[in-house]
Amino acid sequence: MKTRVFSGMQPSGNLHIGNYLGALRNWVRIQHDYECIFCIVDLHAITLYQDPAELRAKIEEIAALYLAAGIDPKACAIMVQSAVPAHAELAWMLTCVTPVGWLERMTQYKAKGAKQESVSDGLLQYPVLMAADILLYQAGIVPVGEDQAQHLELTRDIAQRFNSLYGDTFVVPGTSLPAVGARVMGLDDPTQKMSKSAGAAGHAVALLDSPDKIRKTIIRATTDSNPAVDFETAGAGVLNLLTIYQAFAGTSDEEMKARFTGMRYGELKKQVTDMVVASLGPFQQRYREITGDPGYLREVLTEGAGRVAPIANDTVGLVKERMGLFR
Ligand code: AMP
Ligand code: TRP
Repeated sequence: MKTRVFSGMQPSGNLHIGNYLGALRNWVRIQHDYECIFCIVDLHAITLYQDPAELRAKIEEIAALYLAAGIDPKACAIMVQSAVPAHAELAWMLTCVTPVGWLERMTQYKAKGAKQESVSDGLLQYPVLMAADILLYQAGIVPVGEDQAQHLELTRDIAQRFNSLYGDTFVVPGTSLPAVGARVMGLDDPTQKMSKSAGAAGHAVALLDSPDKIRKTIIRATTDSNPAVDFETAGAGVLNLLTIYQAFAGTSDEEMKARFTGMRYGELKKQVTDMVVASLGPFQQRYREITGDPGYLREVLTEGAGRVAPIANDTVGLVKERMGLFR
């Protein structure tokens, strides 16, 4: 049997090149090597308030972006988290074996919580729900960006704790990070990771941005006080632009040095812009084709949930058995 892969994205904000380089692109690369499930995690999105009409539209938008990126719905299951109730059910059972202290230590919880006047219990439970997503399907590999590495460590801790309390039940999953692009930084502020919720103009390149908007965002990107590229002394902003180029172009470290050493920042930004625009063009074209047929999208999502539900239900049945719950 092929190893199972599970990953997901939240239907909130606009997907950007960090999401693409950190996660989505790698899903496409491995989709035929494993049995893959790619989820739209709407239950995670509501840990912060979402406008209902916008959330509904976002779910389909993310599904279309998965397809536009090249995820093949025949090879992979593309599904919405809330369409399979077992996600929430298993999350509760895992909540009961997870010490609160583990959750309070999560850096994403601390960062998101600090921005809220009042923090929902859901925001604290967020990583337990994520653990449920993964353990429900006995996934062996979880391809994500670097910001999710801590949540995956917690997932392993939860799986091991459950296994030691109740007997071997869950596969303990591994994390898969891309070699280049695991952490794309904000173009306006290279000390912060590029994020869907940071609304400032100039922060991110969204996957659906026009060439003109992409050009304007990259031209304004923060660099450093050097006059030209010097790999030894480059600041975080310049390194981030180089990373974006390298990740899209697939260039080796040596080629990067040969090509960019001594290049002035105006020219560097032009080359990064051209690379990003050229890479996103075909993707945006496919997105327009896919969204022209909303019936097709719904079909893909219904079929995806139907395909994975039996696996999820088997796991919940096993967990109930192990814990002594009523069956
Ligand atoms: P999210 O936007 O939180 O739903 O994240 C979806 C996926 O994109 C996860 O695998 C993240 O680790 C990844 N990701 C998010 N932001 C970045 C970033 N700035 N650089 C690389 N990967 C990212
Ligand atoms: N928390 C992840 C993020 O924000 C999204 C996510 C939810 C996820 N469940 C998952 C990623 C399971 C991988 C596996 O990026």
